[in-house]
Amino acid sequence: MNLAFEQYGSGHPIVLLHAFPLSNKMWSGNIKSLIELGFRLILPDLRGFGQSADFSSINSMKMMARDVNELLVFLQIEKAFIGGLSMGGYVTFDLYRLFPQKFAGLILCDTNAAADTVEKQESRYELIKKIEFHGIQALIENMLLNVIGGFTKTSNPELVSKIEKMFLQTEPKAAIAALRGMAERVDHTEILVKIDIPTIIIFGEQDKITNLQTAKLLHKQIKNSQFHTIKNAGHYSNLEQPEQFNLVLRNFIKEVGF
Ligand code: MLT
Repeated sequence: MNLAFEQYGSGHPIVLLHAFPLSNKMWSGNIKSLIELGFRLILPDLRGFGQSADFSSINSMKMMARDVNELLVFLQIEKAFIGGLSMGGYVTFDLYRLFPQKFAGLILCDTNAAADTVEKQESRYELIKKIEFHGIQALIENMLLNVIGGFTKTSNPELVSKIEKMFLQTEPKAAIAALRGMAERVDHTEILVKIDIPTIIIFGEQDKITNLQTAKLLHKQIKNSQFHTIKNAGHYSNLEQPEQFNLVLRNFIKEVGF
């Protein structure tokens, strides 16, 4: 499908894929800092989210990856730094498997290469039932306060309510389709040792969804990867601490070049 997207700046491209259940608006605090470096930033809305309306009953990570590739073809982008946060990272792994030649570097934020455990799958199917019954409010009740770090919760209520508004903008059908897609996603752990392009791993120190143990495993397996933790941030590290996040991502991009 044709994805809605925003783009900023000019130069070599950076593509960032958003988390669940958000949209490309989650990167708004990162745009200026990256385009100042002389890069072109491409921010798609993955299928079902933001302006990329879709009513499928399941949206797999692979379908989303193929959509992103179609966007790259449309924009005539042959190579880019590509990455994402959490679900955006799951899609990134699928895209890397399909089209590794399109990657100048990998940006993995608060994400995981492993598939869901059976328990995790069951909890997603439970959540789907709740959304079917109570609407998107069920997602807010079951997810919002787990994703946001403790520091943000106590020190930045404006951001908490901004993220809640982003949740509220999500179509229940799209949330359900992506939950099914995440539950059925394949395991990518065996490709980690084969990744030989510049890679940065960025995780919020207080991330309870994809935790630091996962981050350390990614770092151990992806040779020459850089690993940075973001202080006082939970799962949405770029939203919770944009300045720290921007600094580590900028330094990485400057250091490895295109
Ligand atoms: C996300 O932030 O994209 C989700 O927490 C991912 C997930 O539920 O596994």
